[in-house]
Amino acid sequence: MLVLPKGVKHIPQFLDINEQRALVEDIRDVVRAAPLYVPVMPKTGKPMSVLMTNCGTLGWVTDKERGYRYQGNHPVTGQPWPAMPESLLRIWNEVAGYRYPPEACLVNFYEPTAKMGLHQDRDEEDFDAPVVSISLGDSCLFRIGERTRGGRTVSLRLESGDVVILGGEGRVCYHGVDRIYPDTSPLLKKPGRINLTLRRVTIPAETG
Ligand code: SIN
Ligand code: FE2
Repeated sequence: MLVLPKGVKHIPQFLDINEQRALVEDIRDVVRAAPLYVPVMPKTGKPMSVLMTNCGTLGWVTDKERGYRYQGNHPVTGQPWPAMPESLLRIWNEVAGYRYPPEACLVNFYEPTAKMGLHQDRDEEDFDAPVVSISLGDSCLFRIGERTRGGRTVSLRLESGDVVILGGEGRVCYHGVDRIYPDTSPLLKKPGRINLTLRRVTIPAETG
């Protein structure tokens, strides 16, 4: 049996086909307001193979000069990110086990040849909140490791409708996407995979 690192949960088929279709419509609206763009690596300026955009009050961005960070507006259009759709807030409320809402949803679009190297999600201030990740469209080979680089990793296939939660001790585990399996889902109009990651960025002010 596949043993995931502590704090990492995989929920296969969390979203049924109708929920997946409705969510894709919501993401189409997001992408119309905040177009996908090509992010580049800090320092080298090397383009990533994944296209990105965001919704929510904050979005994760990267560029050559200023590196990885969160900001309130789209780096190309300069517009504020579109609001996070209700559908995503509902998913967060069902699985996150955290009483404050997510602030950022990073939208990653993988064309069939795209991948994402092993990395940690650690640009947030708040590590008490989990990262909630949703897969739509073609399947992928997802790899997850330990909290230090170079540790043991396990690989699993993520399919459309699956949710992965990195929480607690698993919050900062290394993870990445080794490959996309083209033509494994009819959900999207073109081949590829969408990944949505919901994150709390700032530490909530105590309201008592
Ligand atoms: C990410 O780590 O930002 C994306 C993970 C995924 O595509 O499943
Ligand atoms: Fe990540």
